[in-house]
Amino acid sequence: MQKILVLNGPNLNMLGIREPEIYGTGTYRDLVSLIEQEAALLGVSVECFQSNHEGALVDKIQEAYGNVDGIILNPAAYTHTSLAIADAIKAVGIPTVEVHLSDVSKRESYRQISYVRDCCQKNIIGKGFAGYIEALHDLVEEK
Ligand code: DQA
Repeated sequence: MQKILVLNGPNLNMLGIREPEIYGTGTYRDLVSLIEQEAALLGVSVECFQSNHEGALVDKIQEAYGNVDGIILNPAAYTHTSLAIADAIKAVGIPTVEVHLSDVSKRESYRQISYVRDCCQKNIIGKGFAGYIEALHDLVEEK
């Protein structure tokens, strides 16, 4: 069975509470349930992992090597700063789709920089939770 890892970075555990006008009112739990339901329909296994710590995200990407077929990645604020996460994605060579809930291309200039963009096969921005579902379909269809 195909295995997909969904990685969410800092403050995404605060979804629903955090700036709902930007990120919506759905909680992180709601997001995980939605992804798990869709994965069940598609017949793939999915693991969702969230961390506020850059190194924990890097560790998780390294552990995925040889064990995971695709990664859905929202590094949150680390998108705009983390060479370590970008290097980890390059190191494992696992097909990865970058997702952002908000349309980062229309926000502050510092959010328009993505260190991971070039190592991801696709970038989905501004589609809210639906972006994760689109990414899941992209990774599953690719097989
Ligand atoms: C985000 C956009 C980032 O700029 C921000 O720091 C986040 C969430 C998004 O999903 O829209 O935490 O990645």
